[in-house]
Amino acid sequence: MRQHLIAPSLLAADFTRLQDDISMVNRSEADWFHLDVMDGRFVPNITFGMFIVEAIGKMAEKPLDVHLMIVEPEKYIEAFRQAGAAVITVHYEACTHLHRVVHQIKDAGAKAGVALNPHTPVDCLSDLIEDLDLVCLMSVNPGFGGQKFIENTYRKVSEAKELLLKHNSKALIEVDGGVALNNTAKLVAAGADVLVAGNTVFASANPEATITELNKLASV
Ligand code: DX5
Ligand code: ZN
Repeated sequence: MRQHLIAPSLLAADFTRLQDDISMVNRSEADWFHLDVMDGRFVPNITFGMFIVEAIGKMAEKPLDVHLMIVEPEKYIEAFRQAGAAVITVHYEACTHLHRVVHQIKDAGAKAGVALNPHTPVDCLSDLIEDLDLVCLMSVNPGFGGQKFIENTYRKVSEAKELLLKHNSKALIEVDGGVALNNTAKLVAAGADVLVAGNTVFASANPEATITELNKLASV
């Protein structure tokens, strides 16, 4: 069984004291920083771009997992790689030429991920799965933190796991949205490798202890 990874999403961090929150993640048991880039077009919200990703990268001591919720991501792959992204995830729904974009990410030297909205079936990746380093299953509709976890995600995680085994793919399965203390163990049992958590971590009384708790729940 592969080791799971915990990826706190800085979307829920306090941007007036970002350095403190980044230091907390650095010293915590977390594995990656999850960074949510939103453009106000693919999703209704706008967050930040490569300039902020680069600034975060200067303080972060763990890999940057950059989730692009933007249209035409192919225009910005090299820029996000230069900004320090270790993993770049684009949305299936935002790419007409997804195969080309995935290879653009790999050619830029990053790990390539594809995210699927809650309504998008896992099967759509069957002709590309061997080329992927990560499949991100959205367990909320992308655009905002703090939303309610969509329950059929467990089934999708199992389906993604089956697809990976069938194609002998080593891609990690990431779950993003509404990940909490009460669904972590079940997600890992279904096959999740990477757990993204925004509000569960940053809205808790002790974010560092919550990361430890998530890690513990995912380890059983
Ligand atoms: C949603 C983002 C998520 C978000 C998760 O569009 O992709 O990464 O930060 O936040 P929580 O964990 O609060 O649902
Ligand atoms: Zn995300």
